[in-house]
Parts: sequence; structure tokens; C-alpha cells
Amino acid sequence: MYILGIESSCDETSASVSHHRKILSNTTVNQLVHKEYGGVVPEIASREHLDLISKVVEHALLDSGVKIDQIDAIAVTNGPGLKGALMVGVNFAKGLSMAKNIPLVGVNHMEGHLFSNFIDLKEIRYPFLCLLVSGGHTQIWNVKKYKDYQLLSNTIDDAAGEAFDKGARLLGMPYPGGPEIEKLAKGGDINKFKGSENNFSFSGLKTSLYYLIKNNDQEMINDNKKHIAASYQETILETLIQKMIFISEKTKVYDIFISGGVIANTRFRDKIAQINAKPKYNINCPNMKYCTDNAAMICMAGYEKVINRNFSNLSLEVYPNLLMNQ
Ligand code: KG4
Ligand code: ZN
Repeated sequence: MYILGIESSCDETSASVSHHRKILSNTTVNQLVHKEYGGVVPEIASREHLDLISKVVEHALLDSGVKIDQIDAIAVTNGPGLKGALMVGVNFAKGLSMAKNIPLVGVNHMEGHLFSNFIDLKEIRYPFLCLLVSGGHTQIWNVKKYKDYQLLSNTIDDAAGEAFDKGARLLGMPYPGGPEIEKLAKGGDINKFKGSENNFSFSGLKTSLYYLIKNNDQEMINDNKKHIAASYQETILETLIQKMIFISEKTKVYDIFISGGVIANTRFRDKIAQINAKPKYNINCPNMKYCTDNAAMICMAGYEKVINRNFSNLSLEVYPNLLMNQ
């Protein structure tokens, strides 16, 4: 079964072609224009998607060697995300579905992240835990089977990716902050500015960084920037890992998937590899290119929907606040 996936929920315009659980192509354009604004500007994102979408879809099809007439279903993100941005992808998918008479499948972006770990898998073993760490979400789900998900843990304030983005902004670095902090933290002392009692609140962690910067002179901050970044990054990663292990022990589920933009962090991946060395745990992370937003993961979620006969029709709407269980 060939699926064309389309993703436009935020600032990546992406299209992908899959065959069962194999990815044949994945074309993603990061809208760099937002960098200068320090975050994603919704109106600009919609216009960029409009400009890019047909070129990106065409490129993904060409790259896969699959003709549009061979496509069995079009899977498109219809939430959560920015309304105008989502509408561009959904309307494009609807037009293509109507013109070529191809079935349409609306996909939840977070389910896309969840299923990004299914790429190349022959068989899915349920249940498993999924730690979802993106710019807007930090959650641990117990995935019992397709469409049977139980939320076990959630952030009480900011998401992990948001903590990276806001921390980077405080340190004078551009958006998105995750890769910037990771670069800066290389060789930094992870203990020199280790977080305080606020360890389990990302918003609290960001506030302690704010006061560290405010209460010290600029020279001291500049001299210690890489240590600050390293300690800040370490606190976020340790928080995520501690919670994940705690929930794993509590539920006795040791098959774990981690997904979302934050697992693109190399230090995070190294720490996970160390835990994985213990035979008890079986922790999987997606290939680097499928961590941040992409349409390959939308193909994977679309595939699960198609094999479960869960199709949409041309009245498919966008839902900026779509929940995982909807
Ligand atoms: O999954 P994603 O692309 O978009 C959402 O669905 O939100 O995640 C984006 C988030 C941003 O907050 C970004 O700073 C973070 O993932 N991120 C990283 C890294 N690369 C992206 N965080 C830490 N280290 C990275 N290397
Ligand atoms: Zn995402």
C-alpha cells in the first residue's frame, strides 16, 4: 500500500511517500524565515506553506518513483497545530483526493510523532510506553493498542522543547533553541549551574535561569555560557529520564518509544543508549531525520488508520487543539 503523507501544522512543510512501513521519500522544508522573529509567526507560516506545498509534494512523489495514480491514500495532519497552517495542508490534500479520486485520511500530528517509531518495523508489539517530547508536548502515554492510549504523565507547565526554546532566548540565541543549546553545551560543565528544587517544573527551571542571568554581571554569564547551557540541558534531560523510568517501573512496561523534536538531542540519545545497555529496557528512538516535524511520520499514522479502515471524507476539518484520543 502506497501512502502520500502531508504535514503543515507548524513551520515545516513536508511530504512523504511510504510503502507499508517503509519510507520511500521524505521532503521537508524548514521555514527559516521565523528565525528572525524568535518564534513561529502564524500568518507567515500559512503563506510559506501556500507557496511551498505543491512543490514539496511534487518533489516527494518524484523522489519516491511512485506516480500519483499508484497512491492508495492521502494522509494529512488536521490537528493539533496552527489553524491557518493546517488549513493549507488539509485543503491541498482534499483537492488532490477529489481530483484523483484517492481516499483521504486525517491524521493527528501527535499520533504521527507516536508512530514515527514504527518506520521499518515489521511487527508492532503492544503495550508500550511513549515519551512524547516536542515543542508543545511533554507526555508519557501507555499505548495498549491502536487507538487505546492512556495518558500517564504530563507537564504541569511548559513542554521540554519549550524549555529549550525559552532558555535559548534568555541566553540570546535564536529559535529553535534546542539545537542551539546542544551546540553551546558541548564541553560545558553539567554540574556548575545544576538546577535547584524546581527540577520537575520546566517553567520553574526557566525562571531560575532568568534570575541567574539577572542577578549576575554580563561578564560572568558570558564566561560561563557553555556551562550554563550544559547544566540547563542536563536538568531537562534528567527530569525526562527520571520520570520515564519511574513510570516504567510503576507500570512494569519496559518497551518504550521516545519521539518528538527533543529526542534529536545527541546527549539525550547517548543517555538513553546507556539505559538501554541494561537488558531490562528496550527503548527505541526514531532515526534523527524523523524526530522533528516531518510527513514520514504522518504516513505511518495514516497507514495504521487505513489498515483499521479509519478513513475521512471531504468534510475533514482542522482542529488546532486536537487531543491524542480524538
Ligand atoms: O516535534 P517538533 O519538531 O515540533 C512540535 O511538534 O513541537 O519539536 C520541536 C521542538 C523545539 O522546541 C526544538 O527546540 C526542540 O524540538 N528540538 C530540540 C533539538 N532539536 C529540536 N531540543 C533539544 N535538542 C535538540 N537537538
Ligand atoms: Zn511535532
